[in-house]
Amino acid sequence: MKSKFLEIFKKKNKSKIICLTAYSKNIAQIIDKHCDIILVGDSLGSVLYNYKSTRSVTLDTMIQHSKSVRMGIKKSLMVVDMPHNTYRNSSEALKNAKAIILKTKCDAVKLEGGKKIYDIIKILIKNKIPVMGHLGILPQSAKSFKVKGIKITERKNLLKDAKTLENLGVFSIVLECVETSLAKEITKTINIPTIGIGASVNCDGQVLVTDDLIGLNPIKVRFVKRFANIKKQINIAIVKFKNEVKNKKFPKKVNSY
Ligand code: KIV
Repeated sequence: MKSKFLEIFKKKNKSKIICLTAYSKNIAQIIDKHCDIILVGDSLGSVLYNYKSTRSVTLDTMIQHSKSVRMGIKKSLMVVDMPHNTYRNSSEALKNAKAIILKTKCDAVKLEGGKKIYDIIKILIKNKIPVMGHLGILPQSAKSFKVKGIKITERKNLLKDAKTLENLGVFSIVLECVETSLAKEITKTINIPTIGIGASVNCDGQVLVTDDLIGLNPIKVRFVKRFANIKKQINIAIVKFKNEVKNKKFPKKVNSY
C-alpha cells in the first residue's frame, strides 16, 4: 500500500480523518495542511454552477477543476469524483478513470453506489486505480434526500454493501446521511475508514463541502455547520476598495508605475 493511503488507514480507531472539498488551487492551498484527504467533489455542480443536481457535471469540468486543485496540494491525498454517466459499464468506467488519473495526477477516484457498481469497482481496482466508495444518499441518482438506514432491509443492504466494497478493495467509504447507529455499526464492522457527512460522530472521519463551512455557499441543511462567514469578510474588503477608488485614495503612487 502506498504511504499516503497507509497513513489514512492507520488513523482508523486512533484519530479522526479530515476530508474537505476543493474546486480550485487557492482553496486547496489553504486547506492542504489541515486535511488528510482533499476531494474534488461533483458538488461543484450545485455550488459553483447552480445546477439543480450533480447529474449535469461533465468529465471535462471535473478534470479542469482537478488540474487547478492539484497545483494547490502538497501533502493531502487527492480524490476526484467520477461524475454521473461516466461509469455506466466497466469499459466506460476504466477509460474515464484512467483519463482522470492521467490528466489530473490525483491519487484516487470516488464512485457512488453499492451492489449496482460492484463489477465496476472490481475492474478499476484490478487495474490498480484506487477507489473511494460512497454509500447512503447518492446525489447522482437520488430521488429523495431522506436519511438512509431507517428501514431494516435498507440497513442490511447498506451493511452488506460496505462489507463488499471493503472486500473489493476500496480504501475508504463516504457515508452520506446514514442513520447514527448504522454508521456506528458499519464503522465497527469494516476495517477501512468511514468518512461521514451527516452520518454522526461515529465515523472514522468527516467530510464537508468547504464552501458550505466557510459560509460562501448559502446552504441550510442539518449536517452543515458554518464555521466562518467569509462572504461578510469579502464584502468588507470590496466596500473598502470601492470607497478608496471613489475617494481617489487608491491607487497610491506606490501602486502605480
Ligand atoms: O461531491 C461532493 O462534494 C461529495 C462530498 C459531499 C462527500 O461527494
